[in-house]
Amino acid sequence: MKRILTGIQSTGVPHLGNILGAIQPAIALANQPGNVSFLFIADLHSLTTVKEPELRRLNTLSVAAAWLACGLDTQKNFFYRQSRIPVVTELTWYLNCFTPYPMLANAHSFKDKSDRLSDVNAGLFTYPVLMSADIILYQADLVPVGKDQVQHLEIARDIASVFNNRYGHTFTLPEAMVDNRVMIVPGIDGKKMSKSYQNTIDIFLPEKQLDKVIKSIITDSTPIELPKNPDTCTVFALYSLLATSDDVAQMRNKYLSGGFGYGHAKKALFEIILSKFTKEREQYMLLMNDLPQLEKLLTEGEEKTAEVAMKTLLEVRLKLGYA
Ligand code: ADP
Ligand code: TRP
Repeated sequence: MKRILTGIQSTGVPHLGNILGAIQPAIALANQPGNVSFLFIADLHSLTTVKEPELRRLNTLSVAAAWLACGLDTQKNFFYRQSRIPVVTELTWYLNCFTPYPMLANAHSFKDKSDRLSDVNAGLFTYPVLMSADIILYQADLVPVGKDQVQHLEIARDIASVFNNRYGHTFTLPEAMVDNRVMIVPGIDGKKMSKSYQNTIDIFLPEKQLDKVIKSIITDSTPIELPKNPDTCTVFALYSLLATSDDVAQMRNKYLSGGFGYGHAKKALFEIILSKFTKEREQYMLLMNDLPQLEKLLTEGEEKTAEVAMKTLLEVRLKLGYA
């Protein structure tokens, strides 16, 4: 049996890129017989950038609702808010004291963020140590992540090995699981869809607002009558990620034949989002309108998860002379 673990920061409502690139693949993996998954909301990590409490509460619940709406089975798996299993911060301190400073100073994501952000706090610097604690506290075998997170997994393995070598086997060494087939979903401006570029498509928006977002996808100004190049068009790229191969082939022909405008393509994209995500949109709305139910599912998951965490942590305390 493989233990799979992954987290998503609560820095906004999950967008189409997060759903196709992270949430759906993680749920598919969790549903495979023989796997057990730890799927969590990295709300402690979100404090490195988001400081407003109300925004964090809302984002945390919306990330939770998105996981559930996309079909996460809370009976089979472990589903929790990172902050509600606070021993992870205790383990982070212990791990900090086994983490060589240059390893963090050389992390690409820190260099990248410290170049971009005005608030370069120590939390950003030690971010990979908290992430390591997230993973090894639950003895995870496999961690599905995007390419940008692979170095963090190397850090987690390094820290776990240093500890194991010194105190005897304590932590499973986790492996990154990078699926190169996972598409990079483009945003409304054609760049990679990302909260940081404000180019996202939130599939949970009410219809009218969703329609407005789709209409704002940037296209060139080829007139309706003329043929268009599907391979350079963001609307076509997004449509291709959702439609069947027959429908994609038909859409390609329409682009190439002329007489088909970007407005038509956007309408087709809007419709396919609504039909592909009907169930998810309904479930998301139900959960966001029934916060006590959402809270109940999370609390139940957290009770189950805390037991697993304590098992590792008691062993660590003992080995370090704190118990
Ligand atoms: P964002 O860039 O919006 O801040 P995150 O970095 O929080 O997104 O990403 C959370 C997860 O979603 C990661 O596993 C990441 O690989 C995946 N993801 C984010 N954006 C995309 C995208 N445009 N296409 C595919 N996967 C994505
Ligand atoms: N750093 C990850 C991201 O930005 C989120 C995360 C936090 C995570 N802890 C984790 C992912 C543990 C996998 C495992 O996408």
